[in-house]
Amino acid sequence: MAGVGAAPPAGLLLRPATASDLDAVVLIERVSFSDPPWSRRSFASLLDDPRVRFTVACAPAAGGGGNAVVGYMVMWLVADEAELANLAVAPARRREGIGRYLLDSAMAEALAGGAKSLYLEVRESNVAARALYGGRGFLAVGRRSAYYRNPTEDALLLRYRPPQVGRGAVS
Ligand SMILES: CC(C)(COP(=O)(O)OP(=O)(O)OC[C@H]1O[C@@H](n2cnc3c(N)ncnc32)[C@H](O)[C@@H]1OP(=O)(O)O)[C@@H](O)C(=O)NCCC(=O)NCCS
Repeated sequence: MAGVGAAPPAGLLLRPATASDLDAVVLIERVSFSDPPWSRRSFASLLDDPRVRFTVACAPAAGGGGNAVVGYMVMWLVADEAELANLAVAPARRREGIGRYLLDSAMAEALAGGAKSLYLEVRESNVAARALYGGRGFLAVGRRSAYYRNPTEDALLLRYRPPQVGRGAVS
């Protein structure tokens, strides 16, 4: 397993999303989620929200022509909690380490922003995402019954808490 802070997959660049990324983000969203997918307007509303980290992963497009958006993540940072609200990678670019790199960057940003816990919800049957999160130390701390539609399914609530230096030490 690549360690947290590992080098990005070849050519990959993460940067804050801009309005010009929304078409590509919405295309990936539509093929990634059925519940229903977030709308363009929903993504657009995140761009100027100071509580939100909306990051895109870009990689050189096949056959040249500059960089293309190949994945994204959305995270809320409120007080000392963070919530990873969305993460997806273009189907043609999965299993290249892009999702893990986006997740690592979200975890690092959450910690840098003072979060003591990072939460997310995941479909119980989402084997790929559960393996990704489990590999980064997320643990199930709850279940939301029939949380998802299309098809109806429970969500697992996962939480990551960074190890705290000196926890329990007598000072
Ligand atoms: C989940 C998702 C973001 C993973 O992105 P990715 O770029 O393909 O993931 P990575 O290549 O970084 O894989 C990291 C680890 O995740 C796990 N993983 C990823 N895809 C997997 C799959 N299809 N089956 C099992 N494990 C998988 C593996 O542990 C993998 O590590 P490994 O390649 O060393 O075995 C991607 O599958 C996706 O966009 N799915 C649709 C949207 C979605 O479900 N988002 C999460 C919502 S909670």
